[in-house]
Amino acid sequence: MQIIDVTAEHLDLFCLCLEDWSDEAKEAGDRRRAWYEIMKQRGLGAKLALDEDGRAGGMIQYAPIEQSVVAGRDLYFIYCIWVHGYKKGRGNFQKRGMGTALLEAAEQDARENGAKGMAAWGVALPFWMKASWFRKHGYRKADRDGMALLVWKPFTEDATPPQWLKQGPPPESVPGKVTVTAYTHGWCMAQNLIMERARRAAAEFGDEVEFREVDTLENRIDLLACSQTDAVFVDGKQIRQGPPPSYDKIRKTIAGRVKRLGG
Ligand SMILES: CC(C)(COP(=O)(O)OP(=O)(O)OC[C@H]1O[C@@H](n2cnc3c(N)ncnc32)[C@H](O)[C@@H]1OP(=O)(O)O)[C@@H](O)C(=O)NCCC(=O)NCCS
Repeated sequence: MQIIDVTAEHLDLFCLCLEDWSDEAKEAGDRRRAWYEIMKQRGLGAKLALDEDGRAGGMIQYAPIEQSVVAGRDLYFIYCIWVHGYKKGRGNFQKRGMGTALLEAAEQDARENGAKGMAAWGVALPFWMKASWFRKHGYRKADRDGMALLVWKPFTEDATPPQWLKQGPPPESVPGKVTVTAYTHGWCMAQNLIMERARRAAAEFGDEVEFREVDTLENRIDLLACSQTDAVFVDGKQIRQGPPPSYDKIRKTIAGRVKRLGG
């Protein structure tokens, strides 16, 4: 196995989160590529794990925490580590050491760039991005917001722990209309997919629905306000994000609110 930096050759695959076989990944649009291009200028690290036949099976992306979506300093933050685990497409690459090798390579890179530690997010559940996986690799809890854990591994004695941004108030609604507000960042293909579905669904209702897109990559103030990189609200109520709700489900939620407008 080999760990390499993402180059032009693998960029499409990286931007599709290794799911080049998936129509859903394509439905998510090119926002992740735009995020990559911007974040590359801001210190983003992006690596792939290749198997002995040169097939990409895993990826990791991380950046200086000051450029990221959590509060902290002199650390790097892992946005995402993903070893392809579906049977579909390129197949299951998990439990062959790719995740460990990617994490170690990212930590080494961060150290070489002068970071005082590494931070990552994980979920306090036995599926999805398990926080327990990071614990096995020497990470410990820095902060918690419900099921979402922020974990970290200090490299130096004087490193300070990261924190989640605090949740602000829900977005305001436009009087007399249904307001769909999509906070969008770009780093996550699944979140981009939800945003695109919400945009399309909102457009179906014409003037009755106001669609607002808030770019949390460029407007850190909005990120601070909503505390999340990506979220879709329909009239101030957040749509559950993971796993991505279907287009029909989002459309139904909006339709329900539109019906209330009339009545
Ligand atoms: C967490 C994750 C990155 C781990 O990747 P991985 O490549 O499976 O990790 P590793 O192979 O290094 O380690 C996993 C296990 O396989 C075991 N393993 C490693 N090499 C092995 C081998 N050759 N044979 C058998 N087992 C092996 C490890 O000991 C480890 O066991 P443990 O879980 O009991 O500790 C991966 O499971 C994943 O992507 N999960 C989903 C994460 C996710 O949701 N990401 C999206 C965030 S936006």
